Amino acid sequence: MKFIVNGGKILKGDIEVKGSKNAATKMMIAALLTDEKCVLENFPNIGDTGLTQELCEMIGTKFEKNGTTVVLETSEIKNCRVSTLSRKNRIPILALGPLLNRAGKAEVPVLGGDKIGPRPIDFHLNSLKALGAEIDFDQNYYYAKASNGLKGAKINLSYPSVGATENTILSAVLAKGKTVIQNVAIEPEIIDLILFLQKMGAIIELGSNRIIYIEGVRKLNGARHNIMPDRNEAVSFACLGLAFPGNEIKVKNANQLNLLTFLNTIRRIGGRYKIEDGGIIFYGSENYKPIKLETDTHPGYMTDWQQPFSILLTQTSGVSTIHETVYEDRFGYAEDLNLMGANIKVVSECLGELHCRFKEHACMHSAIISGRTPLSGANIKVRDLRAGIAHLIAALIAEGESIIDGVEEIDRGYENIDERLKNLGADIKRV
Ligand code: EPU
Repeated sequence: MKFIVNGGKILKGDIEVKGSKNAATKMMIAALLTDEKCVLENFPNIGDTGLTQELCEMIGTKFEKNGTTVVLETSEIKNCRVSTLSRKNRIPILALGPLLNRAGKAEVPVLGGDKIGPRPIDFHLNSLKALGAEIDFDQNYYYAKASNGLKGAKINLSYPSVGATENTILSAVLAKGKTVIQNVAIEPEIIDLILFLQKMGAIIELGSNRIIYIEGVRKLNGARHNIMPDRNEAVSFACLGLAFPGNEIKVKNANQLNLLTFLNTIRRIGGRYKIEDGGIIFYGSENYKPIKLETDTHPGYMTDWQQPFSILLTQTSGVSTIHETVYEDRFGYAEDLNLMGANIKVVSECLGELHCRFKEHACMHSAIISGRTPLSGANIKVRDLRAGIAHLIAALIAEGESIIDGVEEIDRGYENIDERLKNLGADIKRV
């Protein structure tokens, strides 16, 4: 599927942020921990929740959708093997904990995900092993069992990984005894997952210094939860609003607290926004200052925000740098933006001060963006979800026609994006 975009149009109006992809998918997995009904509100209708639905149904979940509310009920685990799904993503590994807790064994496929680096799962496996799981694997599958059930343990994550933190929590809430997890990730989506689990009856304490304490309970109950707004969608729409003079986009449901670091960054480059009840308005301009940016774990500048933001940086007067410290290979999209007229050079040096795991590696994890470069339409194949939204923003501010191929990647995380952009005045056609 493709988008044909005629860029260079002023965009105005309201766009509403949907429920968070990276919270919704984890809550669907959390619902597997109970035999009772769970209700999720503000549920996003996107590729990745569709795929997670497929996974849950394979395990035995009855799934009902009514608008943006879904009901999940897994009265029994019918199947401990998640066989090949219609597409690979990172979610199946998170099903290990619920399956081990409820059925004592689990088989999940080897993961896929974005083309942004090797994305290993060693931290996940180490945590599960510490909780008592025995895990084997071959080319296609992980085979796990916990014949005597999972047991609480003291776990120190070597990096505050989002997925490994979630996996450890999802496994420890029903494990016997206490678990202490050190060096956890504290992204808002994880906190939202913890709130949902608390409603289900879990006991999870948030300590200081990235420590989580969990007291395993014997059983969890059903619960109802309103999924937090997607802060990646909010940032994408914000960048679109800011990137073109005359634009004025109100991002409804954008939450100031979850966007604190992003909003500070916008001020630093001279961007304008106004925080109102129910959302934030972003105003387009062409007078931006360059910046030295580094991505980091929360509460730092999020890695998923650098791609849409890089479009803004192509419009500043001067040279900006981005040092990516979370993923080693997240600048593939720069090549495509250069085809549209951007001037982005990707280098292997650490262009920043933050501690970086990639310092001694040759991976291309810093970018030098020289502006201001007008962008012009081009034909582009989407590489991954966040690169895809960056291309779409670039196409919308570029002069002329762009054809964006591989729109399915964008659909993984952005619901009905073309229709919502049309409401702002965008000239975009899905073919
Ligand atoms: N890592 C390891 N070993 C592990 C786990 C992670 O080395 O066992 C490394 C990764 O390779 C990466 C870093 O640790 O270099 C951080 O990975 P993390 O585990 O934090 O990421 P994730 O859980 O796989 C989630 C989001 C990503 C988001 C990151 C960082 C989901 C489904 N995905 O990934 O979102 O970029 O956290 O915040 O929640 C997206 O939505 O487009 C997306 C990629």
